[in-house]
Amino acid sequence: MTKVITYGTFDLFHEGHYRLLQRAKALGDYLIVGVTTETYDKARGKLGVMDSLVTRIENVKKTGFADEIIIEESSTQKFSDIKKYNIDIFTVGSDWVGTFDYLSDYCKVVYLERTRDISSTMLREQKRHIQRIGIVGTGRIAGRFVKEAKLVSGVSTQGVYNPHTDSAKRFAEKWDINVYTEKEAFYKEIDVVYIASPHETHYEYIKEALSKHKHVICEKPLVLQKKQSEEIFAEAKEKGLILFEGIKTAYCPGFQQLLGIACSGIIGSIRNVEACFTKLENPENREMTDRVYGGSFLELGSYVMLPVLKLFGTEYEKLEFDSIEAENGLDLFTKVSLRYPMGIATATCGLGVKSEGRLLISGTKGYIVAEAPWWKTTYFEVHYEDAERVDKYSETFLGDGIRYELSEFLSMINSKEKNGFKLTRGESIAIAGIMEKFMRVNGREKHEET
Ligand code: CTP
Repeated sequence: MTKVITYGTFDLFHEGHYRLLQRAKALGDYLIVGVTTETYDKARGKLGVMDSLVTRIENVKKTGFADEIIIEESSTQKFSDIKKYNIDIFTVGSDWVGTFDYLSDYCKVVYLERTRDISSTMLREQKRHIQRIGIVGTGRIAGRFVKEAKLVSGVSTQGVYNPHTDSAKRFAEKWDINVYTEKEAFYKEIDVVYIASPHETHYEYIKEALSKHKHVICEKPLVLQKKQSEEIFAEAKEKGLILFEGIKTAYCPGFQQLLGIACSGIIGSIRNVEACFTKLENPENREMTDRVYGGSFLELGSYVMLPVLKLFGTEYEKLEFDSIEAENGLDLFTKVSLRYPMGIATATCGLGVKSEGRLLISGTKGYIVAEAPWWKTTYFEVHYEDAERVDKYSETFLGDGIRYELSEFLSMINSKEKNGFKLTRGESIAIAGIMEKFMRVNGREKHEET
């Protein structure tokens, strides 16, 4: 019996896929088809796949050509599958010519001619309207956003608005996009707004964008008051718009995998979470001088609160802050302690004190540790009572990571489910509530009034 194997994503199943499977089957007697997982596709930079894994498997099954369907989870799997299933022929389309020649030491490698003028990418682009992004704010992060947006299919950066016209012009020139000085024209020519302006301006910009019927992706912290976040999420929901907080850690594949492992029971019940992120800042910078909206917690708090809220939820019993303050009153280092019915958590961040930035999750059977920069998770370990047993996990984190959040935002726009599970409305609202409490404890409101 001649056994044949082939692999693919098979998104938006099309004639090219059908013809490939038909010819793959004809090469032998038994055909195994490997269908990629969403995590693997994301890790190799194939963003924006529209069909779920279940749908893609169903579509392959429906052709009747596959005798067996397996899941492809990593690039190294092909070699082990060939051994495991005793494969005689490995085949893929001619777009891969040369890539898999190394497998010819183990089986025959056949590249089948690709069907012309059809691909999942083409269909995805036809299916979804290209979302034109309008940027508000021109800081460093906005530049990184434009760069990463070029890598996500289904979006195009239309232009930038900033009330400071000069910096808007410089930004537009640098990134070769339009500059808008009039809000009306700006809103007319875009579908979504990316907000990267100073923290205190987010609320007004979000409200305005929603009133113009635009989806919104906004840098963290979304807003600094619980009531405000409840209000804007309710408004977005009512209008069927996406309001999305850009905490990039929440969307990166490695962090997703870490959460999955933490919640799988492998370390038992989670009892303690410690998250730390410090980044020494120049004392002259805005983060160190803005007496109302500066300081370490407003800058980095969203990152360190994220694993705590994801693993323990938003219903904490007790919340306490402790800070080391600079002469101007801004927190250089802040420790947040949370108490939950079944566990405790500490979230630490610093702009003027350096510490070991790690994420530690302790359970009744073991613990997970991810070292800095865990907020761009690429590697973590699971340890047990038996010190010799260590499970190691690694994941890719491409570029600046903004591509992951943008592709999630896009798939939320295109899907019926408007409350993403990677960062829920409830979690964003909880973060705003915690920021608000921090500002009160840290005496920021007093400054706001003066
Ligand atoms: N294939 C083909 N002819 C096409 C499209 C795909 O023969 N017109 C083959 C690919 O070479 C591969 C298999 O079908 O062996 C699965 O390809 P996949 O990557 O899932 O499909 P694409 O349409 O190429 O997807 P994308 O545009 O996302 O890269």
